[in-house]
Formats: sequence, structure tokens, C-alpha cells
Amino acid sequence: MYNSRISGLGFYVPENVVTNDDLSKVMDTNDEWIQERTGIKERRHVVKGTDTTTSMGVKAAQKAIERAGIAKEEIDFIVFATLSPDYYFPGPGVLVQRDLGLDTVGALDIRNQCSGFVYGISVADQYIKSGMYKNVLVIGSELHSHGLDMTTRGRGVSVIFGDGAGAAVLTREEDSSKGILSTHLHSEGQHAEELSLIAPGMGKRWVTDIIEDNDPEDTSYFPYMNGQFVFKNAVVRFSEVIMEGLQKNALSPQNIDMLIPHQANLRISQFIQKKFGLGDDQVFNNIMKYGNTTAASIPIALTEAWEEGKIKEGDLVVLAAFGSGFTWGSVIIRW
Ligand code: ACO
Repeated sequence: MYNSRISGLGFYVPENVVTNDDLSKVMDTNDEWIQERTGIKERRHVVKGTDTTTSMGVKAAQKAIERAGIAKEEIDFIVFATLSPDYYFPGPGVLVQRDLGLDTVGALDIRNQCSGFVYGISVADQYIKSGMYKNVLVIGSELHSHGLDMTTRGRGVSVIFGDGAGAAVLTREEDSSKGILSTHLHSEGQHAEELSLIAPGMGKRWVTDIIEDNDPEDTSYFPYMNGQFVFKNAVVRFSEVIMEGLQKNALSPQNIDMLIPHQANLRISQFIQKKFGLGDDQVFNNIMKYGNTTAASIPIALTEAWEEGKIKEGDLVVLAAFGSGFTWGSVIIRW
């Protein structure tokens, strides 16, 4: 049995910066409210007709492959996590295979929202551990801005989310003490609708129903979030799943060199930091600049932390996510 390690990282965000003041011009909100509740100062929004979820993922992937020091032909498999795919089907995994010009390697799409990248890493890790593949490309990418309610009605959700992509190459590692030590995944579908976008879907409302109803009050095709309920569940599940991962490896919070939490909300990260008694140099946050980029948030943050020299060989790096589903998970890495 092998281990897998992250051999290359990359991220891409669109150039267009949208500040809290910019949002206050299109809806009744303000910089103080947004910063106080979420920590967000600005986010990136794709200008229509430029990038897509796939194109951002491809740009992040190209950097990750280059930094892994491999040729793209050495990628054996693609895993793509997003809740904002270019098409209803097919998913963006195959579009990446096409746009990167890869041979007919397999491509898997992951539908686990904010936990998507953690789930993707877990899947890639199992393929490498089993010996099936040597290099797996894992991408998290989101284009939220085109699908948000950018009016006062949608302000509780739309100020939080931003666009961007991050990618990692996982590579076979012979040394079992290095790389991904363990991954831990959970779900609780009884809260599925507490953070959801239910239409268009085959379950309740398809596009034809939306058009037929032509109801200006219809919000079923915008994301819905029960913010306080999500907050309460997130802090509990984040803590549990980080502890689960540490205990599995006979480690404690004091052993963490770098915690990369999903960038849901700065207040959630700060709660976890305090709970585990971690210093500012042990937790990485960049939600201030990019907002919540869902499946992209961990790979973007991990790449930035690595680029800034905050992750060194031998460090214990912990990734943790919680999100819609609910789904949550953690990854314990010896860098
Ligand atoms: N600007 C100004 N006022 C606003 C805004 C806004 N953008 N959004 C809502 N308000 C108003 C509301 O209308 C309400 O006004 P009212 O009291 O007159 O009715 C008031 O602010 C309070 O609204 P709440 O929704 O109760 O605000 P709350 O304090 O709960 O903060 C928030 C909302 C930030 C979403 C909070 O619930 C939270 O942090 N939740 C955690 C969920 C989260 O972080 N989700 C991220 C995505 S999910 C994930 O990644 C896991």
C-alpha cells in the first residue's frame, strides 16, 4: 500500500474585485455589517462572458501540474468538486479533460458543496493508496456570482459568496510517514434544505415550472441559507471532525502547524481557533479577500499559505470543511 502526497498546488481568481461598498450600491447593505458578521472585505466576481467554473479550474490545474513537476500526460484521473457547474450535465470533470488536452483519463464530479474538495482529496487518496493511480488532479471551482440574488432580498446570502478555483495534484508517496495520513467524511441529510438551491431540479421545480409560474416572488432558484442554524452546526462539526482526525493519528491540537478551515465565515474560523487554543500562525484565513468560494476555498487557502512560505516540509497540516448537505470532513497531512 502507498501513501499520497500533495505534489503541486495552484489557484486562480478572476480579476474583478467587488468590495462591500460596491455591493451597497445594488442592495441595502454596508461594509460594517458584512465585516462584523463574516470578516469579508471583498470578493471576486467573474465578468459575464469571460471565465466559467471549468476555465477557472483549468487555470488553477495548470499551475498545480507545473508545480508538481510532471507532464500533464502523467495525470491518471481527474476529480472535480463544484456546486456551480457550467452545464446541468455533463459535469466539468470531462470539460477539464478536454480543455487540458488530456488522454481519455477518467473524470469524476463531486457534489458535496463546501466539503467537496475534502471529499475529492479523500477519493484521490484512496485511488493512490490502492495502487490504481499515480497522479490524480483534484480541482475545486465555483462561479457563484451569476446565480445570486443581488437585491436586498438576497443580501443575507449574496454578500458571502465569491468566485474562484484551486487545484492540487496528489502523487504516489512510498514513505508511509509522509503525505495524507487519513481522511474523515460525514453527512447528515436531514438538514439538506437548510442550505440549498432546490430549483431547477427534477425533485420539485424544473425550468419549465419556473417559466410557467412566472412569479416575481419566486426565490426557489436562488441559494437559501438558514444562517444561524448553519453557524451552530458548523462550529460543532468542524471541532468534532478535526478531533477525529487528530485522534486517529494519536495527535492533539497542539501538534497542528497549520489548520486550513473551509473559508465559510471568519467568525467560524475564529471560534475553532479559540476552542483549540491555536495561535494566529497556526490558522490560515483569506476569506477577507475572496469571500466564501465553497469547494474552491480550501485549495485557494492552501495554495496561498504554501506560496507565503507558511507550510514547510514535516509540518502537520489539517484541512477541515463543513457545508451544505450537511456534509463535513477533515484531512490530516504530514507535509
Ligand atoms: N446587510 C445588512 N443587513 C443584513 C444583511 C446584509 N447583507 N443580511 C441580513 N441582514 C439583516 C437581516 O435582514 C436582519 O434584519 P432584521 O433584524 O431587521 O430582520 C439582520 O440583518 C440580522 O439577520 P440575521 O440573518 O439574523 O443575521 P445573522 O446575525 O444571523 O448573520 C450570517 C447572518 C452572517 C449569515 C450568520 O448567520 C452566519 O454567520 N451564519 C453562518 C453561516 C455561514 O457562515 N454560511 C456561510 C456559507 S455556508 C458554509 O460555507 C458552511
